[in-house]
Amino acid sequence: MTQTMLLLPGDGIGPEVVAEARRVAEKIAPDLQFTEGLIGGASIDAHGQPLTVDTLVNAKASDAVLLGAVGGPKWVDVERNLRPEMGLLQIRKGMDVFANLRPAFCFPALVDASSLKREVVEGLDIMIVRELTSGVYFGEPRGIERGIGDKSFGYETSRYTAGEIKRVARVAFDIARGRRGEVCSTEKSNVMESGLFWREIVTDLHAAEGDGLVLRHLYSDACAMELVRAPKQFDTILAGNLFGDILSDEAAMLTGSIGMLPSASLGAEGAPGLFEPVHGSAPDIAGQGKANPCAAILSLEMALRWSLGQPEAADRLFAAVGRALDYGARTADLGGSMSTQAMGDAIIAAL
Ligand code: IPM
Ligand code: MG
Repeated sequence: MTQTMLLLPGDGIGPEVVAEARRVAEKIAPDLQFTEGLIGGASIDAHGQPLTVDTLVNAKASDAVLLGAVGGPKWVDVERNLRPEMGLLQIRKGMDVFANLRPAFCFPALVDASSLKREVVEGLDIMIVRELTSGVYFGEPRGIERGIGDKSFGYETSRYTAGEIKRVARVAFDIARGRRGEVCSTEKSNVMESGLFWREIVTDLHAAEGDGLVLRHLYSDACAMELVRAPKQFDTILAGNLFGDILSDEAAMLTGSIGMLPSASLGAEGAPGLFEPVHGSAPDIAGQGKANPCAAILSLEMALRWSLGQPEAADRLFAAVGRALDYGARTADLGGSMSTQAMGDAIIAAL
């Protein structure tokens, strides 16, 4: 059966990097069929909203979705719940992709691109599993109460159900089983009820289903500190939506450039995954052909592995990216001068 991938290039450098991922896909998975849609500011311009029902229906009907990036200065004044970022939150929620995998892997050729010392990052290989469809990002009630002077307030709700914690913790356990077998769960159980509950549920799940896995707990602030002090102590990090957002940006920079980092957002078994580079729309360099397409190309690699059932192709692609870097292929973010397209060519050549 033919497999389909929905491409949602989005805004900023999104279209440029997704175009390179598509060229690579045509080479490595020639039977894959593509459809294309709009998200974020591009969708606001065309339809007045950052994600249409049609696009969500197409996303759910495809085998995998590859997203570029959303947002940019053009849409900062748009009404809050119609902002480009809302399209991203809506598609994550709509596809119910609750487990966000964000690898922080330091390619050997890039050890010196990190702001940390070589010995701290050489051989770094962390997988962050971030809960993506709940927590304080989505909790109700939320809002801003105005008009009462200094007593006016803004608030949201940090809420996790046992089921939500268990399903993402199970993914982290499964991932860790294919790695070093170590899970570090992070929250702020010292100050947050939802954090305390998170710790309890993860502890119980580990007792019931965590055979062969080592589980430890770390407050998220301590985890942030340990990530720059001695990042190689981590194998698989499990976090809720907000702390996972912060820790994954931090981990990304350990590897030298956020331009290298892909992500996979997975839902229930058999449901399509959503794959997107961790970098944003980078409006400052958009349209100049100098963005690093590696994160988008490695997001394709994750799609081949996690949604399309093609792990050998994924392995080949991962190796090809490493080889292109070994040969010296570098975009500006990595200290080189290659164009987006030349980087794509280098990876295709390495394939
Ligand atoms: C991310 C981004 C998003 C998030 C923004 C753009 C809404 O920071 O994917 O990490 O906070 O989830
Ligand atoms: Mg983020």
